[in-house]
Amino acid sequence: MNEQTATENLLSRCLTDKHYRDTIDRRIDGIVDLIDRGHDGKSILKNAGKRVGREITFLIEIARSRVQTRGKFSRSNRLWLDNYTARYSTPESVARYRAQRISGETILDIGSGGGMQAIFFSESNTVKGLEKDRIRYLESQINAEVYGAKNLEFINSEWPSLKNNNSNLQDALIFSDPLRESGSKERELKDLIPSPADIIRNYSGITGKFAFDIPPQIRREKLGIDAETEYISVNGSLNRLTLYCGPLKNAESSAVILPAGIKISGRYEPPDFQHAEKVLEFIELPDPSLIYAGLVNQVKKLGDFSFLGGDKRRIVLTSSVHPEEPFPGKIYRNLAVCQLDEIQEKLVEIGAGKIYPRFEIQPEEYYAMKNRFEAATSGEREIFIFRVGPGYVLSEQEVKPQ
Ligand SMILES: C[S@@+](CC[C@H](N)C(=O)[O-])C[C@H]1O[C@@H](n2cnc3c(N)ncnc32)[C@H](O)[C@@H]1O
Repeated sequence: MNEQTATENLLSRCLTDKHYRDTIDRRIDGIVDLIDRGHDGKSILKNAGKRVGREITFLIEIARSRVQTRGKFSRSNRLWLDNYTARYSTPESVARYRAQRISGETILDIGSGGGMQAIFFSESNTVKGLEKDRIRYLESQINAEVYGAKNLEFINSEWPSLKNNNSNLQDALIFSDPLRESGSKERELKDLIPSPADIIRNYSGITGKFAFDIPPQIRREKLGIDAETEYISVNGSLNRLTLYCGPLKNAESSAVILPAGIKISGRYEPPDFQHAEKVLEFIELPDPSLIYAGLVNQVKKLGDFSFLGGDKRRIVLTSSVHPEEPFPGKIYRNLAVCQLDEIQEKLVEIGAGKIYPRFEIQPEEYYAMKNRFEAATSGEREIFIFRVGPGYVLSEQEVKPQ
């Protein structure tokens, strides 16, 4: 029996024999404990190998995924996700948001992976998930049980083999979060498997409702689909781009900020702010979802901002008055403006503790700068450093009102 078959057998038995799954879950708990205590793969194998038999490599993979997805899923400690699905599955906050936006539909999820988006969709829709990989298909069935999902069925099949069974899909919503090839940075829609264009072509006769989860790095000019582009950030980092087509399209572009639950929609526009002559009392970093969605100008409703600078990842604004809340992004209070050789002295003066450079800088330089300044300071305050022209702004983040 090869490793693939052994893994499939283990997952199938976990599905039919609850007692067996509880035993294996407890064994995985043991591996998670070893990982938490800093053991590496070799030492885990030595510690746990004899007890769990030949499936150990797979169980270590599941254990690693449980550690890795702790902040991502509320039931991470009982989920079955392999390396790939742990990395690419939709985070719970995003999946739940989408299940709020889309409800009361019959959904076909093409390429349902470990099942996470399908599971949350099924809270407000009837869902059929199609997954070609047998291991992921089995994982998704277990994961659905872990979340007590109903109105949900997974099918182990490679799309479009179900092409002839479209009768029950009249007016259904076709969703797909296609396979990404890891590594390719400059992505295009045609690199995704299966391709959204093929999916639209296949179902256009029976429905107009399509939604696709695609890598947010794909440039707008390369989309080639008439769709609302919805960029979602989670904890301040860009996380997802969803395309909504046909009757699902409510706007040209949208930005959704989670967990705050802020949503902004409108027309895609390049940033348009007057340039600042100097750094004012406040510095603002609009959320990346707004920048990607071309909606950053909408913050103008919340204050009088000027443009201080920016790079590929951020736009830095400044204002003399605290912006109105809820501001879709981060707000900092300017504590000092200085030159590079004065930073250390200023940091000591203002009682800095942790330091966070917030400008384009190589990772090695980032840590070198952070470590050098943190070694010289002994205060409590968290200080964020922005580079503006030849100078640097030392600032403190404003606490968001509850
Ligand atoms: C990014 S994952 C989906 C993750 C899922 N949305 C979630 O939230 O857990 C994409 C999945 O599509 C599957 N896939 C790719 N091409 C497929 C096809 N032609 N038919 C069925 N599944 C396919 C891959 O095996 C992979 O598991």
